[in-house]
Amino acid sequence: MNEHITIAIDGPAGCGKSTVAKELSKRLNIIYLDTGAMYRAVAYWAIKSNIDINENNPDFMNMLKSMSMEIKYVDKFPNVIVNGENVSSYLREKEVSMKSSIVAKIPAVRKRMVELQQELARFNSVVMDGRDIGTKVLPASKNKFFLTASIEERAKRRYLQEKETGISIEEIKRDIMLRDENDKTRAASPLVKADDAIEIDTSDLTALQVVDMIFKRVKSNVL
Ligand code: DC
Repeated sequence: MNEHITIAIDGPAGCGKSTVAKELSKRLNIIYLDTGAMYRAVAYWAIKSNIDINENNPDFMNMLKSMSMEIKYVDKFPNVIVNGENVSSYLREKEVSMKSSIVAKIPAVRKRMVELQQELARFNSVVMDGRDIGTKVLPASKNKFFLTASIEERAKRRYLQEKETGISIEEIKRDIMLRDENDKTRAASPLVKADDAIEIDTSDLTALQVVDMIFKRVKSNVL
């Protein structure tokens, strides 16, 4: 496909967004951007620098102002480079996961991240997953999808990914519910479905079934 295509995939933690978005990017031969990784990278950098994540903390705001962030593709996978350091391998740590939803509440952080994401989409065909892609990052995209799944199913999927860390399914469920609450109730760009997004409940679908549904839809939008 030679057209400039943008695909927005939003939804809560554990609904299968990233698996689906990665597979779509391969099928369509376009780049994939995991926007959550960018919020996680800000959280990671604050933790590493021992800085309290709070917009009223001048140290945090100075860190944000002076921080450089770029996305570098390694084997077509987006790596996040902060101040010249590839931080991608640290972004799934539990503390980073929890603090990323605090980082994501801060409007100044969101402004920077959204600008970077929009710049990437201006010059590339891209499939992005996140929470505000359909509403804020790519509001003009013709291809918007909002994935959901039951809390039980989401916790089960995360458990299968993380069980070697010794975490229990109950603990995962609690974490997911807390992050949902943070994502949905924040004032700045809360997690909401864009009016023109297609909602897909993935609870009883395989990732490939979801990919097929989206792929068909995108093709019909392009043709
Ligand atoms: O998708 P994730 O779990 O990697 O996201 C990490 C955090 O960042 C999560 O609390 C939601 C937030 N986020 C956001 O607010 N906007 C996005 N576009 C992507 C993620």
